Amino acid sequence: MSEKVNLSYCGNEYQLPVIKGSENELGIDISKFRAESKMITLDTGFGNTGSCQSSITFLNGEEGILRYRGYPIEQLSESASFEEVSFLLLKGELPNKEELQRFKKLIGEYNSIPEGLIESIKTFPKDAHPMGVLSSCLSMMPAYYPEYIKKTDLCDEEMVQNIAQIMGQMKSILSTFYRHSKGEANVSSDSSLGFAADFLHMLLSKDGKDVPEEVSKAFDTLLVLHADHEQNCSASAVRVVGSSKVNLFATVSAGVNALWGPIHGGANQAVLEMLEAIQQDGGDYEKYILKAKDKNDPFRLMGFGHRVYKKFDPRARIIKKACDTILEKLGVEDPLLDIAKGLEKVALEDPYFVDRQLYPNVDFYSGIIYRALGIPTNMFTCMFALGRAPGWMAQWQEMRRDPSFKISRPRQIYTGRKARNFVDIESR
Ligand code: SDX
Repeated sequence: MSEKVNLSYCGNEYQLPVIKGSENELGIDISKFRAESKMITLDTGFGNTGSCQSSITFLNGEEGILRYRGYPIEQLSESASFEEVSFLLLKGELPNKEELQRFKKLIGEYNSIPEGLIESIKTFPKDAHPMGVLSSCLSMMPAYYPEYIKKTDLCDEEMVQNIAQIMGQMKSILSTFYRHSKGEANVSSDSSLGFAADFLHMLLSKDGKDVPEEVSKAFDTLLVLHADHEQNCSASAVRVVGSSKVNLFATVSAGVNALWGPIHGGANQAVLEMLEAIQQDGGDYEKYILKAKDKNDPFRLMGFGHRVYKKFDPRARIIKKACDTILEKLGVEDPLLDIAKGLEKVALEDPYFVDRQLYPNVDFYSGIIYRALGIPTNMFTCMFALGRAPGWMAQWQEMRRDPSFKISRPRQIYTGRKARNFVDIESR
């Protein structure tokens, strides 16, 4: 018998079931509340509202804990490849050798995109933002795969095939546009290299020379760290849009567009631009701390703060450590890293940030590594999207398989004008 919460209002009593998760999180199930009370709950920005029950990712913002299917992010980023982690998110278990080989092969079958799409990509201005190109191309895909539109109810195998196709073809969309933007010839995929190395090969290789092993390994780790993060803004966009039973390409395109926002995934690009602005401004990061604290100044310290983490984002801790090792391995000296570290040190001692529990998040240091790997700033958020795609699609798959699946349709409290009669234009 589940525990209950009692609510009383205007002489009426309501009993609401309490749901307890596997990590002892508690939620009040209000799914029948409006039918019983004619009332709804209100929670702008959903900061206190659960949209679903999920077994994919657990995070504890107070403790700075992040686990994919129970495995701590610290262990996965150290020991698992992006393909292993993607399989884990989608299937719930780490793959054995045979399963991993089969999954890699399936993704490798989608190592190119239709000729017509390549031609469309070449019509984009060379300085178009690649997130806009990515979301447009994903939405264009069903034009080449019309069966995606016809078949709205998919079996498990079809879901995994769709997911592998999108993972594989996102690499081609991004590398094709990047090469176009540089006026360079396309470089075909070599899926034997593995996902991360193959993508960097398609994106950055020069004269057939492959990207150094340590660069691909660092990139693989960044993909793992970005792979999922429970019900964040873009994952929620994927769940809401996907709940209309639209095809998975359009659903993932919605996730890309949500992630593009500067206070979500777009923050990794905004952090680099902020650090460059500070550098150009003489490196005086204290001045920018004052700006961030000034209520009259719209400037925010990009890469700082988080809706859930009220301690260090565990991913930021891992990326910060990786910054030092990767830059050293690559022999890269980046003054922006020193500015970032100085900014972080001052902010973590400043009562404004301490009182508001504002810590570096996943975006604060990631751009430093992308830059050291030779990835251009305006592609940073695309790297986030490439990493997050399996997480989005695991959330979509869980939502579509949920026995209590229904279209997402929140309610509202209306605060507008009461009923009134039409007035024709002569009398207005
Ligand atoms: C991601 O949700 C996820 O899981 C997202 C993500 C994922 O993996 O999917 O982790 C990825 O999006 C990370 C966040 C990237 N965004 C940024 O770095 C942009 C800068 N950060 C802020 O915009 C902000 O911290 C948010 C958007 C991340 C969180 O905003 P909240 O939870 O709505 O917090 P808030 O705006 O209510 O701020 C609370 C207070 C406010 O001050 P007061 O009104 O109380 O005086 O903190 C202040 C804010 O002004 N504040 C900041 C700040 N972030 C919050 N002040 C200065 N600089 C900041 N960065």
